[in-house]
Amino acid sequence: MKRVETLVEDKYYQEYLRRNSEAEMQPKFCQHDFQHHLAVARITYILILEHNDLNYFIKDSGLSGKLAAKEIIFAAGLTHDIGKWKEYQCGIDHASYGGRLAREILPRALFNRNEIDIICRAIYEHRNISRDMSFLGERLHRADNLSRICSHCEHRFQCPKIKNKEISITNFEY
Ligand SMILES: [Fe+2]
Repeated sequence: MKRVETLVEDKYYQEYLRRNSEAEMQPKFCQHDFQHHLAVARITYILILEHNDLNYFIKDSGLSGKLAAKEIIFAAGLTHDIGKWKEYQCGIDHASYGGRLAREILPRALFNRNEIDIICRAIYEHRNISRDMSFLGERLHRADNLSRICSHCEHRFQCPKIKNKEISITNFEY
């Protein structure tokens, strides 16, 4: 996955993950580090494969084939929270801000216009479930929730996200 490798080596990509880590020094915050991004990328891919939806995704999105589809899925997973640090700074929605940041990075990893639109829309949509979500946005949202095993987290009784029912206590599935 050459383009995905180029993406994760991008100096701005690495800088945004560094800013996330810097903002999440206190243990009360879920980490939005490289491991979280990679877990979400892999689970999104598993969800699509598990339901035999890869060919549908390729056709419906006008993609060149399986490699392009896999790279797009991984690129979405690996960038979906890169705007999180900005949300800590000024309250802006990290999903829409992250989509804007990704739009600047992705052309340098040689994703084309159509592919960038698909990835950035999924990033924009990943935070909340809604009726008219894109195919990839809906899978990314589900993968994000499945990526954290909150039932084993030592902070689960103090977690504001669990209290506000933003996330449920996820059991181990992937
Ligand atoms: Fe997020």
